[in-house]
Amino acid sequence: MNRLLPIISLLLILLAIESKAQVSPESIDEKIENILSQLTLKEKVAMCHAQSKFSTPGVPRLGIPEIWMSDGPHGVRGEINWDNWGYADWTNDSITAFPALTCLAATFNPKLSYDYGVAIGEEARYRKKDVLLGPGVNIYRTPLNGRNFEYMGEDPHLASIMVVPYIHGVQENGVAACVKHYVLNNQELWRDHINVEVSDRALYEIYLPAFKVAIEEGKAWSIMGAYNQFRGQYCCHNEVLLNNILKEDWAFDGVVITDWGAAHDTKESALYGLDMEMGTGTDGLTLSTKNAYDNYYLANPFLEMLQSGEVPISVVDDKVRRILRLMFRTNMNPNRSFGRMNNVEHQEVAREIAQEGIVLLKNDNSFFPIDPNKKMTIAVIGENATRSMTIGGGSSELKAKYEIAPLEGIQKRFKNANIVHSMGYASGPPAYARVIPSPYDADSLKRAAIEVASKADLVLFFGGLNKNHHQDCEGGDRLQYALPFGQNELIDELVKVNNNFGVVLISGNAVAMPWLPKVNGVMQGWFLGNETGHAIADIISGDVNPSGKLPFTFPVKLEDNSAHHFGEISYPGDSIKQIYKDDIFVGYRWHDTKKIKPLFAFGHGLSYSSFNISNATSSKKTYTPGEEITLTCKVANTGSKDGMEVVQIYVGKPNSKVERALKELKAFKKVNLKKGENQTVQVSFNADDLAFYDESISDWNLEKGTYLISIGNASDNIVSEIEISIK
Ligand code: BGC
Repeated sequence: MNRLLPIISLLLILLAIESKAQVSPESIDEKIENILSQLTLKEKVAMCHAQSKFSTPGVPRLGIPEIWMSDGPHGVRGEINWDNWGYADWTNDSITAFPALTCLAATFNPKLSYDYGVAIGEEARYRKKDVLLGPGVNIYRTPLNGRNFEYMGEDPHLASIMVVPYIHGVQENGVAACVKHYVLNNQELWRDHINVEVSDRALYEIYLPAFKVAIEEGKAWSIMGAYNQFRGQYCCHNEVLLNNILKEDWAFDGVVITDWGAAHDTKESALYGLDMEMGTGTDGLTLSTKNAYDNYYLANPFLEMLQSGEVPISVVDDKVRRILRLMFRTNMNPNRSFGRMNNVEHQEVAREIAQEGIVLLKNDNSFFPIDPNKKMTIAVIGENATRSMTIGGGSSELKAKYEIAPLEGIQKRFKNANIVHSMGYASGPPAYARVIPSPYDADSLKRAAIEVASKADLVLFFGGLNKNHHQDCEGGDRLQYALPFGQNELIDELVKVNNNFGVVLISGNAVAMPWLPKVNGVMQGWFLGNETGHAIADIISGDVNPSGKLPFTFPVKLEDNSAHHFGEISYPGDSIKQIYKDDIFVGYRWHDTKKIKPLFAFGHGLSYSSFNISNATSSKKTYTPGEEITLTCKVANTGSKDGMEVVQIYVGKPNSKVERALKELKAFKKVNLKKGENQTVQVSFNADDLAFYDESISDWNLEKGTYLISIGNASDNIVSEIEISIK
């Protein structure tokens, strides 16, 4: 027996560890209080601000770990130096680059959003990150916003449905998602100070919903405040946004993190909702001889206010409780997995999202797909056929393990064809916050491309934007709606010598297409990550049938967009403030209501097959508040290829007592159908989703009466309408 004693006690210890590992929420709260009681004031304050570019200090004395963060949102960013923005040149930090979030939104497939979240969460975990700085859900308001590519489009319902599974997937790995940028950071120009004035109605109906569901349903463990101001107060310490809406109304129990350098005042940061300050200027540690981080607003100045009693201790305690809660969910959670990185499954997820997100915009005479077995000469023209798009763009820049460019993908798939590439135009090398002119001579590039195009059987033009300053890039907006670098003129010249012509646009934004009538096919290719070339070749060859839908409207011209319609005070503002005069009429809501025909509508996207949506019915004619409204319709694949279609449900309220958009997306479902197959599809939403935000009562108001439900496969292709009423 004596000899068994050590074994028994070892077993007991293991059992104790095991039962400790399965911590219940109550015991976490107790642990938090226990730790809090052992911390000095200085240690508490230290936890509320950075110790390096991407980490906050732990409490070494108590074995409490540091918190490590990384961008986000399309892959885990390469390691950055401790004190400056230089890359640390590690050799073990190359990752899977996933498609940008506009592409994810264009899939209209929440399942893929979950797969995305799981995969990127696993990579973040393997890279030992506790917080992933993403996803981003700022609303697409103007095509000039340099960061639209990082977000999920113009529609609050689409963004809401897509953001939740991403967060769940990430957080299953014991890595916190950090939803950003809360809120109204809808342009990059003057982002660090512009004061946004917007009505409560537009705030609640358009700009907040995706953040709200990210917190309430996604249960995001952290959120990033935006750079800009809202009603005269910086978003990172904003009483209304953070204290009232986020923490009180939505009961957010996680951590509010600043955007990098977005805190501006100690007392406001202390009192108006900020929990953790990051990125305040420290380059070269010029602010202090010892430790610049001590000079952060939430560092020594905060400590002094707490010591003098100007700010009560309960304020720092609340912040530290939140930070410890985040830690028990992440780096102090003994059950979290170890993650994995660059595995085939992640690469497959990246490829699948890219395939499903690519949108076929135009396809005259079945230009696409192009037979991969045919012997022919294909002219692949344009800088974007070979340019790396994981590099650049700002904080979402990635160090991809590999990146298949479009040209490479086409060369691999079209083995029987003679592929000739010509650059056609040049934009200059990648650079952040500045433009380096291209060293190439534009005229000779153009001449060479015309020569190549004239001898080919067909031309594939790869153009669009790139991740440089004033393109799709953080820190600046686009300067024009037109394609840059002389691409329009080049396309005009090329179609003259060869009109068997298709365009693949690589961008995260809408662009003007004055040449549209002259070309046969147009595809929206987004920024697709390391599987770019494979996914594009999959679609061009017809190996995969396109099923992406536009997550935002392409206006014909900039003035057709609502933010621009109202002049400079609406976009970009007068440099001090801007007024969202477009109010709730963002994107298709504006185009529909004002009958301004877009170039391509929200929800539009073609297939190599054809689909028929019919027999739409509602289970009842009259509903009461809170009731589920269920619609049924038949979707048939009437073409000759298997494929997917997205049934889209929009609702409008004729004779409303307030101004309303003609219709708003309330539900959608992606359906996978074999050729010739049909399916009965059910889609539902809640009657309460039809309410408008009533400023007179500061609450949602569900009007009684008749509503018009429109069913279609694009916002401008409605095939059936049903009237229902709310009693
Ligand atoms: C961006 C954030 C990013 C942070 C850290 C900021 O400039 O706005 O989105 O997470 O930098 O890189």
